[in-house]
Amino acid sequence: MQEATWDEEKSVWRLSIKNLISNEHFSFEVDVLLTAIGRFNAWKIPSFPGLDKYKGLVRHASDWSEEFDVSNKAVAVIGNGASGIQLTANLQPRVARLDHYARSKTWIAASWAGDERTLAPLPFSEDEQASFSKPEDYLRMRKEVEDKYWRRFAAFFRDSPENNDLRARFIEIMRKRLEKKPELLDKLVPDFSPNCRRLTPGPGYLEALTEDNGGLHTDTHPGDHRNWNSDGRRHTQSRRCYILRNRRQCRHEPPLLHQSIR
Ligand SMILES: Cc1cc2nc3c(=O)[nH]c(=O)nc-3n(C[C@H](O)[C@H](O)[C@H](O)COP(=O)(O)OP(=O)(O)OC[C@H]3O[C@@H](n4cnc5c(N)ncnc54)[C@H](O)[C@@H]3O)c2cc1C
Ligand SMILES: NC(=O)c1ccc[n+]([C@@H]2O[C@H](COP(=O)([O-])OP(=O)(O)OC[C@H]3O[C@@H](n4cnc5c(N)ncnc54)[C@H](OP(=O)(O)O)[C@@H]3O)[C@@H](O)[C@H]2O)c1
Repeated sequence: MQEATWDEEKSVWRLSIKNLISNEHFSFEVDVLLTAIGRFNAWKIPSFPGLDKYKGLVRHASDWSEEFDVSNKAVAVIGNGASGIQLTANLQPRVARLDHYARSKTWIAASWAGDERTLAPLPFSEDEQASFSKPEDYLRMRKEVEDKYWRRFAAFFRDSPENNDLRARFIEIMRKRLEKKPELLDKLVPDFSPNCRRLTPGPGYLEALTEDNGGLHTDTHPGDHRNWNSDGRRHTQSRRCYILRNRRQCRHEPPLLHQSIR
């Protein structure tokens, strides 16, 4: 859908559609228009001081390209939401240098279902998959999975025994996973309680930060070019690029509408 225009006289929405395969354009009218185009499709590169002077490639994670080859590059990932955490874990083994800029602290949790999580996929075995063809076995599996997640609701409340227990366990997990660079623990452990911000198990994330080619920056603004010289003095062996995982547009009004519904 390229455009939706409200026709005041007929009281209908006029939609302009392009068939992306045939390139054909057509239009039609509807009384009711439901948009479900997602909140992540109108991505936006945030502005921060110094970005305009940066000479390397700047890429938003919502604007990925399969041709984008990260090998031998020095890469900065900005932001430690779920995307930044996943990107850091997955890029660090493939790049020359990975610097992660995180202005806020975050909990890195165990899997809240209690299972072991790894950076590599954890597929269902063939036997398990075969068992799913029996509805009662499939239902049992689904219930077991749901149970692990939702029977621990008390852990959502700050200062509940369950929440305090999570805090202690998460600190221990983080300490263990940061064994190679224990000084990072204080930079990462938040003062807010677990579950206050969305929890992320982040398999491979803490490990990536402790590798020789990985680094965490919590007190430096990503736009600080003392760290990211545009002449490449700091990273002479490799090309540089920023990967941004920042908030998208904050406007909730759907794009493409030529008159908002009142
Ligand atoms: C990397 C990543 C991992 C995530 N992992 C999880 C997870 O593990 N668990 C979880 O609960 N949530 C996860 N989320 C969040 C979850 O994906 C979103 O909340 C959810 O997909 C939103 O659904 P939606 O239908 O609103 O939008 P979307 O899934 O974004 O779907 C919107 C659709 O509209 C189409 N569209 C857009 N513009 C137009 C247009 N102009 N014309 C026609 N079609 C259009 C798009 O092509 C798309 O198919 C993840 C998000 C990301 C980015
Ligand atoms: N596997 C998964 O489940 C998965 C994976 C990816 C995404 N998602 C979902 O997708 C949604 C979006 O996640 P997201 O990680 O892409 O975005 P997000 O949660 O909004 O995180 C954005 C990150 O960018 C930082 N940031 C924003 N502006 C900045 C600036 N100007 N300078 C420096 N840092 C800045 C934020 O820091 P502050 O926190 O300090 O503001 C935050 O760390 C979430 O709902 C998430 O759960 C899920």
